[in-house]
Amino acid sequence: MTIIDVVEGDITRLDVDAIVNAANESLLGGGGVDGAIHRAAGPELLAECRTLHGCPTGKAKITKGYRLKARYVIHTVGPVWHGGKSGEPDLLANCYRNSLTVAQSHRLMSVAFPAISTGVYGYPKEPAAEIAVREVKAHTGALERVIFCCFDKATADLYRALISP
Ligand code: AR6
Repeated sequence: MTIIDVVEGDITRLDVDAIVNAANESLLGGGGVDGAIHRAAGPELLAECRTLHGCPTGKAKITKGYRLKARYVIHTVGPVWHGGKSGEPDLLANCYRNSLTVAQSHRLMSVAFPAISTGVYGYPKEPAAEIAVREVKAHTGALERVIFCCFDKATADLYRALISP
């Protein structure tokens, strides 16, 4: 059975097979967790990302992790929040599902997710966490461990409550 954990802190520090990046469609870097991952991984990450020619919202693409402890980075693009009636919930669910599919097709055992779309992209934290937990619980497959890496205590508490209600 897959262990689902909540960790509070910086996702770039985690020793897992893959960390998931909340990227944008260019895959060429940005702020937030994306910026932190590129800084920690080093310039080789951007060089590999350039070869991917972007990624549509809801999809996921994998690269190596370079200077990170994580062997891989799975780049996914969350939806920008426009009020919730523009397909945002389905697109966010696709991010989690497609990232897990990519992880499993590379036979990875452990994956860590940030709270995709809940920073610059403005998705409200609670409904985003509900989707994240629902999708991960439904699609863990052969993974041994999935981590929700939360940048602050309030987000971590929200995930903990959703994981074991
Ligand atoms: N470790 C874990 N979580 C983090 C970290 C970190 N080091 N840094 C931030 N967070 P955001 P988005 C949390 O804005 O909303 C970028 O510019 C943060 O508190 O990183 O999907 C991209 O290039 C928040 O809860 O991603 C895109 O243009 C969550 O990560 C755009 O931002 C996501 O916040 C994507 O926006």
